[in-house]
This record gives sequence, C-alpha cells and structure tokens, in this order.
Amino acid sequence: MGWSFSISVVLFLTLLIQIHGSGRSFIESGCNLFQGSWVYDNSYPLYDISMCPFIEPEFDCESHGRPDKFYLKYRWQPTGCNLTRFNGEDFLNRLRGKRLMFVGDSLSLNQWQSLTCMLHTALPFASYSVVRNGDFSIFTFTTYNVKLMFSRNAFLVDIVGEKNGRVLKLDSIGAGKTWKGIDVLIFDSWHWWLHTGRKQPWDFIQVGNQTFRDMDRLVAYEKALTTWAKWVDYNVNPAKTRVFFQGVSPDHENAQKWGEHAGNTCLGQSRPVLGSKYPGGPLPAELVLEKVLRSMKKPVKLLDITTLSQLRKDGHPSIYGTGGHRGLDCSHWCLPGVPDTWNVLLYAALIQK
Ligand SMILES: *[C@@H]1O[C@H](CO)[C@@H](O)[C@H](O)[C@H]1NC(C)=O
Ligand SMILES: *[C@@H]1O[C@H](CO)[C@@H](O)[C@H](O)[C@H]1NC(C)=O
Repeated sequence: MGWSFSISVVLFLTLLIQIHGSGRSFIESGCNLFQGSWVYDNSYPLYDISMCPFIEPEFDCESHGRPDKFYLKYRWQPTGCNLTRFNGEDFLNRLRGKRLMFVGDSLSLNQWQSLTCMLHTALPFASYSVVRNGDFSIFTFTTYNVKLMFSRNAFLVDIVGEKNGRVLKLDSIGAGKTWKGIDVLIFDSWHWWLHTGRKQPWDFIQVGNQTFRDMDRLVAYEKALTTWAKWVDYNVNPAKTRVFFQGVSPDHENAQKWGEHAGNTCLGQSRPVLGSKYPGGPLPAELVLEKVLRSMKKPVKLLDITTLSQLRKDGHPSIYGTGGHRGLDCSHWCLPGVPDTWNVLLYAALIQK
C-alpha cells in the first residue's frame, strides 16, 4: 500500500515535470504558435522565386513546370494569436555582426535556402555573396556583416573511415568544434537514419566499446541526439548562443496517412489538409527528439514544425523538383513554400527575447 502510493506519487511528479518541461520550450506567452491551421491568403507567397538566382533547382518547382498555384497561397494561422509578419530588414538588423548556422541534412538546406531568399527579396539592393564549398555554404549580407551558414551534417555525430569500413560513432561528435561560438544554431537530423543499402553511408555502428552491424534506428537516433545534447549542455553559453532544433519534417509518400487511397502519394496534391489535426498522428522520431530535448540543462527551442508540415501534403516538389528526372520527391519542399513558415516561426522566436 505504502509502496504503491509512493510509486504513484513519483510517477505523478515525473509526469508533472515532463509536462512543465515541454511547456517551457514549446509554448510562449500563453499561445502555442505551432498549433493552428493553414488559411488561404492572397498576399502569399512571401517572394518570387525568380528573384533568387542562388536557389537549388530541386526546390524550384515553378521553373520545372508545376502547374498548380494554390500551394503558394497558404499562410500559417496559430489558433490562439497572430504571427508577426516576417520583416527582413528587422531580422538583419537584429543579427548585425552575427553568425547564424543551419546544421543538418537537405531539409536544413531547404530552410537555409528559404531564409536567404526571404531576406534577399526583402532587401534586393543589400549586397550579398554566396559561397558553396562542398558541405559548407556561406551566404553573407555584406553591409549588415551577417553570415547565414549551412553545414551539411546528416547525423550530427561522426562517421569515421576505419580499416574494416565506415563507422558511425554514436558517442563522438567532432563537428562540434565548428559550432562553437556561433550566435544562432539551428540543427536538424532524422531522414538519413532510415537509409539502408546503397544510400546508407556507414558499415558499422559503434557505441562505446561495442560495434554493431545495425540496430533499431530510433534507438541509434536517440543515442546520437543524447550525444548532441551533452555537447550543447557542456559547450553552449546561453548568453551568447541561441540554439534551435528543427522538428522532424514529415514526408507524404503514403496517402493512407491522410485518409486517401493507398498508392496515392504527394503527386497531384494541390491543397493542404484542412483543420489542425493530421489523421496520421505523431511521428515516432519526433517523440524521441522531444524526449531528448526535455532532458537537457541548457535552453534549446524546438521549432515544432512537424504537425503544421504534416498538413501540407501539397507542399512537396513531387515530379517538379528536377524536371522529373529524379522521380518522385515527397520529402523536400517547394520554395516558396512550407520552409518559409518555418522561418517565420524562427523569426517569431528570435524576436521574443
Ligand atoms: C489577429 O488578426 C485579426 C485580423 O487582423 C484580428 O481580427 C484578431 O483580433 C487578431 N487576433 C489576436 C489574438 O491578436
Ligand atoms: C572498454 O573496455 C575496456 C576493457 O575491455 C574497459 O576497461 C573500459 O571501461 C571500456 N570502456 C567503455 C567506455 O565501456
């Protein structure tokens, strides 16, 4: 009796702490910006893609013949409040003399490209330069002395070539040294954890002394995120650096998830799912990410874009990413499009403090 009572109390307190913890990082000023719905807005899109010559062809759906236009016209409307409209000049003024870095996979690239395009079209006469050098890219607004960087790093933890093959080291994070002292860091990782066969860029997984051929990918993901979280907890000075994590970006390869026939994909989808609930439910990887973020000592803000992006089955390039030559892309996002909203939310978070 006494035992089970104290166990219940402990469980209850743990639950309270978890709810409180998640409340702190996801909900600000009484309004959850990530809960809402997509509304048609004729003032959208935020920019004309032809103004951004530096955009990658894989995100430029209009130039590759995407015929429908409704997907360009949706604005994210939180249920409890209004989002501040994106102000590029204010954004750059706030970042004057600073460096912002996206670290992650091609969905991180998607968001970096969206942000550079949003800022360039807001201030078309501000001089800029773009340097793309392998896995590292720097977009500089010269007059503002602002650097917007993208570091391609799909796993965040290390992959090391060794005698017996390529080893994914879940508890080693050498890339951390390139993140130190950056003013704004925005991480993302998930999609590459699913790859097998020829697309899998490692042969073994190592944790501590142990080496595995493979393991449950969600377990591996959690171990790697925990290594990343420790890096942040030990190395980030919150007075200098603000840290964000882009929530898991959903794909739309299986229309059963939003209540259509199996076999349908994102191809031909021209409208979002209406309302604020996605029939397919939450993504397991997103739950793992939230669990790790809750365990951290340093403040990290989750850009909780999963649900709002799940509603945008119409937002992907499908066959209009590279003119159809690379098949069907239901993972990345057309630009202008959904990542612009991720950046509007990033802006809202940056101006909050
Ligand atoms: C949001 O904007 C609409 C239209 O401009 C306005 O009617 C409404 O009161 C605003 N809501 C809040 C919570 O500020
Ligand atoms: C690795 O193995 C050695 C000996 O087998 C042991 O002394 C050491 O503590 C292990 N290290 C870790 C991190 O498990």
